[in-house]
Amino acid sequence: MRIAIAGTGDLAKYFVEELHASSYDVVVLTRTSSSSSSSTSSSKAQPKPWYSARHDAGVISLRSTDYTVPSLVEQLRDCDGLVSAIQDGTPANVVVHLALLEACRQTRSCRRFIPSEYIGDVDRFPTQPLFYPESHQPVRDALAAQQDVVWTLVMPGWLADYVVAPKCRYIRDIGDLCPIAYVYGKGEGTNIDTDTNTNTNTNIHTDGSVGRTGTTISMLIPGTGNEPISCTAARDVARAVAALFKVPYRVPSQFQSSSQPQDQPQQDEDQDHDYSSGCHSAWDPITYIEGQATTWNEVKTLLQSRGHSVRVTYRPVTELEETVAQASLAASGSASVSVSEDDLLSAQFGLWSTSGATRVPRDTVVAQRSRFFPGLAFRTLAQLLDASEAAMASFGDGGGGEGEGPYGAV
Ligand SMILES: NC(=O)c1ccc[n+]([C@@H]2O[C@H](COP(=O)([O-])OP(=O)(O)OC[C@H]3O[C@@H](n4cnc5c(N)ncnc54)[C@H](OP(=O)(O)O)[C@@H]3O)[C@@H](O)[C@H]2O)c1
Repeated sequence: MRIAIAGTGDLAKYFVEELHASSYDVVVLTRTSSSSSSSTSSSKAQPKPWYSARHDAGVISLRSTDYTVPSLVEQLRDCDGLVSAIQDGTPANVVVHLALLEACRQTRSCRRFIPSEYIGDVDRFPTQPLFYPESHQPVRDALAAQQDVVWTLVMPGWLADYVVAPKCRYIRDIGDLCPIAYVYGKGEGTNIDTDTNTNTNTNIHTDGSVGRTGTTISMLIPGTGNEPISCTAARDVARAVAALFKVPYRVPSQFQSSSQPQDQPQQDEDQDHDYSSGCHSAWDPITYIEGQATTWNEVKTLLQSRGHSVRVTYRPVTELEETVAQASLAASGSASVSVSEDDLLSAQFGLWSTSGATRVPRDTVVAQRSRFFPGLAFRTLAQLLDASEAAMASFGDGGGGEGEGPYGAV
């Protein structure tokens, strides 16, 4: 079975590794060139080295697209499912996801689609984070309004990876958008781009001090720090996605008779779809997963117990709300003081966290775990830290210093 991943970012790397480990053929869609060869005549940007290396090694098939429907149909025509790992918090996210959905509809076999969401409890908090109503809600509405493509939104809460050293993860630090940022000595914050091995951070709080392990962690905690959150490791999200594509389903009947592009290939004989199940899919509209239910104050205590020097600043909810209100006034021309895009995003993510929206519903997590993920272990923060510390210790690394180590991502 062949699964396509849209986007060549951080989270997509885990999808590549875990879908490949689950014996899927893996296609990766990118706006860049699909070849890193210098002889290519393409004027597009070169693909990221992490992806081109795997393309060259035959692990993935990197395919270039401009995200128009005809281009996507061409690239998805031999695929059996699609998972998006696109990161775009603007209304452009809607355009690209509606094109992905329409392309799936126009293929014969690519009828399962996981859009790029990966946030929290959207049943209780459909408008959190505050920019999602514009950037994501229309996609949810479009998915719900059709029956041609089966879909689910995968919701893990916060990615747990921010707690481990950047050397042991693909997920990059995102400055004030996440309450945790690793800081190294000499007062320099780090945000390592694992493709270029360069420091891309511009917005991390540092105090230059070095903890017992050589590592300082800066926490800018929204609210009191006692609000409920959920954390799930990116690799466990990817394992869950791989498991979801194992769930039996059948191609919706209307697609076996209509709207087929004329040049569609026949379905592979060996697809492991279960056409006898009598339903399109056992997928639910929302799939909640969770490694650990916790709070940011508990995360702080855990990191301190591991020998890190943790520098904490709290941001009151009123301050976050004021920033959002000020930005709204400025956007309508009613305020003279403008709010930077980074500050607004940071306040919106802060309110997402303090609202309780990042805590996924426990009952659903437990029920879906037994239905979809019976053999899958969703790791706790302590287990992730154990794995990263063991990886660094085996290379004689105490945890300090910048740059991507040869440890892999836990
Ligand atoms: N819950 C959490 O704590 C958490 C944390 C991090 C991320 N996430 C979510 O995980 C998803 C992936 O995030 P990420 O950090 O892995 O993303 P990322 O590293 O920023 O990469 C996203 C990729 O999306 C593609 N892309 C961006 N804008 C696009 C557009 N307008 N049209 C088409 N492709 C576009 C790009 O690939 P090409 O250049 O190859 O086309 C880019 O490499 C997002 O939904 C993000 O919100 C959640």
